[in-house]
Amino acid sequence: MQRMKVLRASQGLTISTSSKVEIFDAQRIHGGKHMRLDGKVAIVTGGGSGIGQVIAERLASDGASVVIDYIGSPDGAEATAQVIEKQHGKGEIFQADITKVEDIKKLMDEAWNHFGSADILVNNAGIEMRADFWDTTEDQFDKVMAVNLRGPFFLTQEFVRRLLGAKKPGRIINISSVHEDMAFPGFSTYCCSKGAMRMLMRDLAVELGPLGITCNNVAPGAIITPINKALLEDKPKLSALLKNIPLNRLGEPEDVASLVSFLASDEASYVNGSTFVVDGGLMRNYHEQ
Ligand code: BGC
Repeated sequence: MQRMKVLRASQGLTISTSSKVEIFDAQRIHGGKHMRLDGKVAIVTGGGSGIGQVIAERLASDGASVVIDYIGSPDGAEATAQVIEKQHGKGEIFQADITKVEDIKKLMDEAWNHFGSADILVNNAGIEMRADFWDTTEDQFDKVMAVNLRGPFFLTQEFVRRLLGAKKPGRIINISSVHEDMAFPGFSTYCCSKGAMRMLMRDLAVELGPLGITCNNVAPGAIITPINKALLEDKPKLSALLKNIPLNRLGEPEDVASLVSFLASDEASYVNGSTFVVDGGLMRNYHEQ
């Protein structure tokens, strides 16, 4: 793990654990305008590409200070931080492999040491590997589960421990998939991981609710991101999929990020234990022959 460059819009700003100073700083950055996530600190995993990148940018543009975790895409993470800097927001990139508990602790330390605490955790990092069920290897199973399930499980655990220590409320938002509920032939490992993430969210909503910590899932459908590269390049598959999407288009990462920002905000304080699907109606589509 390696600490990368720290980027802050207004160099010389005092970052303080006092919420008064935080709010004052945020308002100064945004020209006195009150932003939805002013004074909040968010951690976004997989912030160097795809949906995670746009979520990090959106949370920052709504006033949050963002710790942008990445593993394999330093340039992407740097690009995210630069967008945040241009928007006059606060972002810091940090390389941590969420499949390693040791890295998870360092990531959480980074948020707490740098920004004073954290309020919002977005478990976004995820991978998928195509393989027919009968050909799926142990290695493929372990890799997908490690990133999509084990990582969010132990990262969330560490986040919750810190919140408990600080007696703070918090928000957990998992980026799951329509495939937490819908079959995806050729991707049984991915389906297993996302189905488990659905149940993890439901369990945590009940177990952590009394502590003032909410947990919800956002379930994207087909969104234009690098994870979909093969599909995006396969014209026949793509047009077959588009026929199943009532809105007749693929989603944009922004479609997901705007919902995440709402769930992270005070306006969503009573929302707990649900999955919110962002798929253009894909899951609801069925045609009788
Ligand atoms: C997967 C995509 C897939 C989409 C809709 C997403 O969770 O990452 O590969 O196209 O679901 O099936």
